[in-house]
Amino acid sequence: MDIRVMESYDEMSDLAATLVVDQVKNKPDSVLGLACGASPIGLYKRLVEAGKRGEVDFSKVKTVNVDEYIGVPAESPDSYHGFMRKHLFDELGIKPENTLIPDGMAVDILSECARYSHTIKEWGGIDLMVLGIGANAHIGFNEPGDAFVPETHVVELSEATRNANCHFFANPKDMPHWAISMGIQEIMFARGLILLASGTAKTVALGKMAGDITPQAPASILQLHRHVIIIADKAAAARLEQE
Ligand code: GLP
Repeated sequence: MDIRVMESYDEMSDLAATLVVDQVKNKPDSVLGLACGASPIGLYKRLVEAGKRGEVDFSKVKTVNVDEYIGVPAESPDSYHGFMRKHLFDELGIKPENTLIPDGMAVDILSECARYSHTIKEWGGIDLMVLGIGANAHIGFNEPGDAFVPETHVVELSEATRNANCHFFANPKDMPHWAISMGIQEIMFARGLILLASGTAKTVALGKMAGDITPQAPASILQLHRHVIIIADKAAAARLEQE
């Protein structure tokens, strides 16, 4: 795996931004895969700055998010729709029709999953995907389990994930139990992947990512991808050398 250990979160965000900006400069109609959470916020800030400076044009870019909570309306700031609007879309003027995020309020959630998988294919797959990693080594909301689930699906969130993410909610008690996540095959079909991890809360997760390939550590599958770059700070990378 191509692992870059950086001094700080800012340096991680700088490198990730350089990679994403280069991707969009080389292919202005790129399909970018995106994640929410604390890890990519610095990257998104830099993309907004680069866009506003006129260094790169995002007007033809399409974006596909990796997950969304079930039962949180898209209009809510607690939703991943709300997160993306705040940190990227509204700032860069990315048109809603060029973005794809699962509809966590769909009446028929299984049809929504099928629609999502279909649209990813219709858009020609993902050129470059940005991922974070959960403390239990989940990617997207692909939680540890007995099998890798290939396509977009419904996930019951683990207690650990709910505890880790509830602080993002205005009222932590609103943290949902269920989510929709892109599947492992859909992530692995991305032509390039960047995974961001910072801080001691991710040390064990990155160790698992570099250990045995097993659905109990979903990120471990990334070892089989040809073009994945892991960008981590020293704290998160501490166990990588042992693996
Ligand atoms: C969340 C998201 C993931 C994200 C991960 C890490 O549960 N579903 O897509 O990458 O956990 O989040 P953070 O970057 O806040 O640590």
